[in-house]
Amino acid sequence: MDVVVNLQAMGAPAVAVGGISLLLIKRFVDHNRNSPPDLPPLPEVPGMPLIGNLLQLKEKKPHKTFAKWAVTYGPIYSIKTGSTNLVVLNSNDVAKEAMVTRFPEISTRKLSKALDILVADKSMVAISDYDEFHKTAKRYLLTHILGPNAQRQQRIHRDTLIENTSNQLHALSKNFPLKSINFRELFELGLFGLAMKQTLGEDVESVYVDELQTTMSRYEMFNCLVRDPMVGAIDVDWRDFFPYLKWIPNKRFENKIEQMNIHKAAIMKSLVQRARKQSSSTEGMQCYLDYLDSEGKMLSEKQIQMLIWEVIIETADTTVVATEWALFELAKDLKRQERLYEEISRVCGSDKITEEKLPDLPYLYAIFQETLRVHSPVPIIPLRYVHEHTQLGGYFVPSGSEIAINIYGCNMDKNVWENPEQWNPERFMNENSDPMDLQKTMAFGGGKRVCAGALEAMTISRLAIGRLIQEFEWRLTEGQADDVDIVGLTARKLQPMLAILKPRSRLAE
Ligand code: HEM
Repeated sequence: MDVVVNLQAMGAPAVAVGGISLLLIKRFVDHNRNSPPDLPPLPEVPGMPLIGNLLQLKEKKPHKTFAKWAVTYGPIYSIKTGSTNLVVLNSNDVAKEAMVTRFPEISTRKLSKALDILVADKSMVAISDYDEFHKTAKRYLLTHILGPNAQRQQRIHRDTLIENTSNQLHALSKNFPLKSINFRELFELGLFGLAMKQTLGEDVESVYVDELQTTMSRYEMFNCLVRDPMVGAIDVDWRDFFPYLKWIPNKRFENKIEQMNIHKAAIMKSLVQRARKQSSSTEGMQCYLDYLDSEGKMLSEKQIQMLIWEVIIETADTTVVATEWALFELAKDLKRQERLYEEISRVCGSDKITEEKLPDLPYLYAIFQETLRVHSPVPIIPLRYVHEHTQLGGYFVPSGSEIAINIYGCNMDKNVWENPEQWNPERFMNENSDPMDLQKTMAFGGGKRVCAGALEAMTISRLAIGRLIQEFEWRLTEGQADDVDIVGLTARKLQPMLAILKPRSRLAE
């Protein structure tokens, strides 16, 4: 997340340049001077004095720029973002070395100002350092929501989500057969509802927020809890690039993020209070909040609210990004859409696709994997901070550097993938392809910080793609490009996909 934050708005740093002493300049120019004699220094992408490579990153698609640089500078190189030394990794080998072998020296994170405010002292599994809080909170998350046992118990919520999505699409295509449909809007609200059921026991329609003295609808909650913080997380305070200038006030920026945070925190507080009241009157119902209340005695109230919010924002974002990209590719490519439809028809007949059938649908799995490879929803892993000198790819990496693992760059590596920029699910269906190829995309990260929600995301996304192709023929409306937009952690389609849906014959109830 930090990567995107720090690399996104490049205009402001110029303001900060004036008045910096030569002493400070010297301090940041030669970051490799401590390199031990037996290890070569990292290749460097040339930049400008003081601001380093910031201006070269103004395209706002850092994962793509990094992948381009890898062609010239190799799979590992360093750049300067203001005063920060950022080491960029673009191949599976160095990425795995960072995630596994060298993890003990790279297990913390340095946050941007915006994130620091929004994540309340790193009170989230995904943002925390690798410490006791992280280990305990991740265990709670896996045991009660995202691990295999918990996922079995959550089955009903997923089935309802898919059924509702299908019904809504049928209603839209029946009532407005010629109107294009915005799948994203519908599915992200569905996932938001699923996350509220998992965490709070109920898909809350509206809530009175004491601290804001207003009643908020479900849609308003979604905006304050998911959309606004995703945008806020990448808001740039120029002082992120020049921490030694943090004494200069930037009130406008701080007020904006603080305001966003106040709304988010007030809604979370009211939702949690409401769920506790409901929970005490509904015997036997267990949601994530119930578990945190009974087991997480050492967690503060703030931490509990943050852990609930984490599930909400993570559930309502990445899965919809992956599913939308897959449906977009299929709507563009009618031949492959037909091939998938035939596979599903052969395996499921006229029955609706269910989770039990997923292992029998290899082409569906290949489509999901290929979509993650070409359109990694998290193209750059949230930046890691090097807190002890280390080495990567045979180069010395000094402490104080940050590490950007460019998953997109790894997946565009011509040494590993033939015609990497082409979306070609058949590459995973080839008789000679190794079943381990499916792990090669690294879309869910790896090592001790591997994504906790991979199982849920894979199940929901495949089920949604399968069911919606089983029920509708998808065609894109004219003129839709596959441009990318970075929002917070994720790389979604710049414009939501707009498709015309033609229902196929109805399935058995
Ligand atoms: C297609 C969907 C998804 C993708 C591509 C994805 C990808 C990732 C990636 C790349 C990381 C970073 C790993 C690292 O720092 O090394 C991550 C972490 C994480 N993800 Fe996901 N994710 C997805 C869905 C989800 C869902 C649905 C949840 C549910 C709440 C979730 C929860 C988490 C958590 C809690 C972490 C932090 C794990 C840790 O730091 O130990 N993810 N995810």
